Amino acid sequence: MSKISLPPTNDYCPQTLFLYGTYDDEGKPDFGLFCWFSYIWDGDYGVMACIGGEKLTRDNIHKRKVFSANLVTEEMLPLADFLGNTPGRSPEKAALSFDTEEGRVLPVPVLKACPVTFELEVKQFVPLHDGEVMLCTIRNVLRDETLGTDGSGSPEKLAAIAPVRTTCNRYFGWDGRDLGAWGEPMKRLTNV
Ligand SMILES: Cc1cc2nc3c(=O)[nH]c(=O)nc-3n(C[C@H](O)[C@H](O)[C@H](O)COP(=O)(O)O)c2cc1C
Repeated sequence: MSKISLPPTNDYCPQTLFLYGTYDDEGKPDFGLFCWFSYIWDGDYGVMACIGGEKLTRDNIHKRKVFSANLVTEEMLPLADFLGNTPGRSPEKAALSFDTEEGRVLPVPVLKACPVTFELEVKQFVPLHDGEVMLCTIRNVLRDETLGTDGSGSPEKLAAIAPVRTTCNRYFGWDGRDLGAWGEPMKRLTNV
């Protein structure tokens, strides 16, 4: 195989999407969209998450050291796309309302419409030049009980959950279907 060299890119790293839920100084829930997220192992499962630049989510996590990570599904995509393209301090984001509930173990906002949510506690902040990596303990995993009460995972359950993946500035379904460019699904939202 003959190869070409490329500059650094994330075009060849399909990623899973999560909405991070935090509370601001007034106790109002804020959600931002994030893909720099993966598992780590340190005797038990943990999570590493990278946030780049200044944003409300980052400030809130710094103050409280906890957040929820809500897996983005195809059904949630228009809302998730909006929350990823609208800064937390903008009036547009503050005006949008959707159903949330409190985490079971940590004081974090959880999206009611999300079938899989991690309740995360930051154990270590690793500051970088512009961004920051957070190493987190998974304090709880919430999963839609209509998918079964035995707690096991399966290909069928994942297909039913239909998580969204992203690369090349586009969204893709679990089965690989192209779900549109960043900024497109949010146009289907009717309540903004
Ligand atoms: C598809 C997608 C993925 C994103 N992933 C990240 C990410 O991993 N890290 C990051 O810092 N920002 C990421 N963003 C940008 C944030 O979602 C965006 O800055 C958002 O406004 C943050 O919300 P907040 O201002 O309420 O904190 C992503 C945006 C999109 C559309």
